[in-house]
Amino acid sequence: MISHPPRIEVSASSDAASKKLAARIAAAIRHRETEGGHYVLGLATGSTPIPLYRELIRLHREEGLSFRNVIGFNLDEYLGIPADDPNSFRTFMFEQLFDHIDLPVPNIHIPDGTIETGEIESYCAGYEAAIAAAGGIDLQILGIGRSGHIGFNEPPSPADSRTRRVTLDPVTREDAAATFGGLGNVPVEAITMGVGTILEAREIAMMAWGAGKAAIVAKALRETPSPALPASLLQNHGNVTIILDDAAATYLDR
Ligand code: F6R
Repeated sequence: MISHPPRIEVSASSDAASKKLAARIAAAIRHRETEGGHYVLGLATGSTPIPLYRELIRLHREEGLSFRNVIGFNLDEYLGIPADDPNSFRTFMFEQLFDHIDLPVPNIHIPDGTIETGEIESYCAGYEAAIAAAGGIDLQILGIGRSGHIGFNEPPSPADSRTRRVTLDPVTREDAAATFGGLGNVPVEAITMGVGTILEAREIAMMAWGAGKAAIVAKALRETPSPALPASLLQNHGNVTIILDDAAATYLDR
């Protein structure tokens, strides 16, 4: 297989970029449906994918896009907060996407942040097994954290890391403080798919919007791939698109 460096797509706005990606996802879902198969979508939370989810909902409502043949696997979840907490990633996914489309509930997979400590390892192995049983991830959607994380793979995270329990970087916790109403309320740990899990997706789309992400995006694309900057490990994948608005592309040669 020919390996390509990451493709970089820059649009005038996050809405324009998200519409393009949503159209590609819709075409892929429909194509797979004509073949009678499932389309396996790796999903992210946070502010970055909100315009994408908004457009996917519009395509469902206005253009008849069905998600009945889609299987979803979310990247991550905070550990130690109830599933129905307003700040859990489960709550986010239902509010921002699942409540508004026809994705069958049994096809939804989000790491369980309420799992007992002693059960976490086998739970994570089960999450990996469920991805494999679905045939692997067709397209993984990613954002990037200011720490350089993808999923909650904080530095350092090796390229072969798998779904596991992790400690959040102080930068990540700071960025979540406003949502949680103070740093002290932000969980310290999470469950995340590993970098290795992410790199096994057949295709990856990493989005970033705004000037606040420009420096980390440039580093992730320019620096020698290393566990010290987990997003840089995407350079080794071969089928990655980095989707940016103008502000997030500030430090890239265009
Ligand atoms: C979310 C996730 C994280 C976020 C990243 C960016 O599921 O895994 O890696 O994509 O922290 O967050 P936002 O989009 O809020 O800037």
